[in-house]
Amino acid sequence: MLQFRHLKSSCFNERKLSLPTCRPSPVASRLLTKAAVAEVLNDSTLENDSSTYLSNVVMWNGKRLQTQVLPLTQDTISIRSLDWDRDRFDIEFGLEKGTTYNSYLIFGEKTALVDASHEKFHELYLETLEKELKKMGRTIDYILVSHTEPDHSGLIPAVLDRYPEAVVAGSKVCLQFLTGLTHRPFTAQAVKGGDKIDLGMGHVIEFVMAPNLHWPDTMFSYDHGTGVMYTCDAFGMHYCTDQPFDVDVKSIMPHYRFYYDCLMKPNAKSVTTALRKVKDLNFNVIANGHGPILKYNVSELVGNYGSWSSSIAKGEVSVAVLYSSDYGFSDRLSQTLARGVTKASVQTEMLDLLSVDPQELVACVGRSKGVILMSPPGDSAEAKTSLAVITSALKPGTKVLVAESFGGRDEPVDTLLSSLVDVGAEVVVDPLRVRDLPHQALYQGFEEAGTDLAQALIAKDSIAAKKAAMPADVAKALARLSSGLYVVTAAHNNARSAMVASWVSQASFEPLGLTIAVAKDRAIESLMQVGDVFILNCLGEDNYNATIRHFLKRFAPGADRFEGVEYFTDEGSNCPVISSSIAYMQCKVISRMETPDHWITYCEVADGNVLKPAARTAVHRRKVGNYY
Ligand code: FEO
Repeated sequence: MLQFRHLKSSCFNERKLSLPTCRPSPVASRLLTKAAVAEVLNDSTLENDSSTYLSNVVMWNGKRLQTQVLPLTQDTISIRSLDWDRDRFDIEFGLEKGTTYNSYLIFGEKTALVDASHEKFHELYLETLEKELKKMGRTIDYILVSHTEPDHSGLIPAVLDRYPEAVVAGSKVCLQFLTGLTHRPFTAQAVKGGDKIDLGMGHVIEFVMAPNLHWPDTMFSYDHGTGVMYTCDAFGMHYCTDQPFDVDVKSIMPHYRFYYDCLMKPNAKSVTTALRKVKDLNFNVIANGHGPILKYNVSELVGNYGSWSSSIAKGEVSVAVLYSSDYGFSDRLSQTLARGVTKASVQTEMLDLLSVDPQELVACVGRSKGVILMSPPGDSAEAKTSLAVITSALKPGTKVLVAESFGGRDEPVDTLLSSLVDVGAEVVVDPLRVRDLPHQALYQGFEEAGTDLAQALIAKDSIAAKKAAMPADVAKALARLSSGLYVVTAAHNNARSAMVASWVSQASFEPLGLTIAVAKDRAIESLMQVGDVFILNCLGEDNYNATIRHFLKRFAPGADRFEGVEYFTDEGSNCPVISSSIAYMQCKVISRMETPDHWITYCEVADGNVLKPAARTAVHRRKVGNYY
């Protein structure tokens, strides 16, 4: 919070949908004019509507922040916090277009705020909120909290400081968490699925529990008066623009899909369940928490969630990810493990050990070929019951992974593991221990562990499937494509990784560009997202065997790929350069194209050097084309 205390009130000069002065993005030139926005909103009164405006841009740690206010529908406005330059969300999520945090005000006879914003928007957001409330002569009667991740709830304590009479409505777990977060008394109203709060003037808000979309305590709020469904993370995308709606569906679709893949795919079954719960609600707007609000393509975009999730849910191999909500880092670490599993195209089911119905747990563990068990609090009666259920339901041969939650009262992982081994579980990844506050390298290790478990489940199927997919003659013909041998090295904060690459090709002259194919289940994939920088090391034909052998080894999750390797650090990118390489290039990922099992990354070459001028690049020749 201290970081943005320097923001002055005077920086908040409202601007009515004119372009901010310090937005260099080329997107700006394509943004809709005020008249065009009025047109797409199909509301001629908006043309002169002073309730639609942007704040000035303020800088926070060198990145641009701005708020935007717009009418959404009857008695409802949106306050969107535009985080133009945010470039990452956790380890797994490189952001190409920044993001937004959307919150909403519903003015019935009572006033409800739906979610808030990230702490970094402290002054900007609170000024905007206060201004809008003053305009209407209102205070806040209810705060509807979709879930408790800090990008939406980070400012709720500050809102409560200003509006202490507000009643906070959320799931039971959500309210417990907020109690710890706010350090102040507040009036709480725990709600369940189907509960309603009547704000008056027709705005009856019905709650729908949507656990794991994408947080354990997530709930949707549906306004029967307007048909707006408030879904926060679900149906969102990390895409910052001051066009507030899904007008340009072609542009937003890749971001919508990528967001689904990163956050929702590990919870495909939960997505399907949530869609079933809301199917009878007549919603016409999806008021999400990130990116453009869905108004013009609701059925297509919501339908995509249905089709993407049902195709995943049909997969035969699944991993149960069992965590304890709101305990230590169980939530976030389990999401990272699940993300690692889905990178290898294996589906996951996530269940909360502290609230799951025992029969549901029996069924889930029984049908899962793999089980990830996050250590629950050792003093929880609910967790003890769930652990007993797991050991009774686990089938011999189930592959398991046990991990600490860093909650302070973790059931010891060795005890957990031996209780699973006693009933026939097979350990394929060593227990994951967390000694320090989780950091990027630790999350990277967890993601890799999830991928390792999934790969162990599908290894035989996968090789057999590759062989079966291509006639032998075609496979031999394809092998006539030859390539060079390279090692890609990448680093981001304290996480770094490397992989052997052979599917590398120059792709453009101006700018100098190349493509590299990266298998979706590669650990380094998380460090090669749009905007990321890496090094392409070229291996010499006379001196590549030891390097290839080293980097083709199977590394334990989180293991340092560079231990025992001679390298130096490239100053421009902070990535390792392998000393024995004959040349190297510093590259930046510009775009990625998805194929069924690889990402084709198009990169621009920013810098490079030759280390051994007389040496030639090693050539990779294969016997069959259906494997590397
Ligand atoms: Fe956008 Fe779950 O926070």
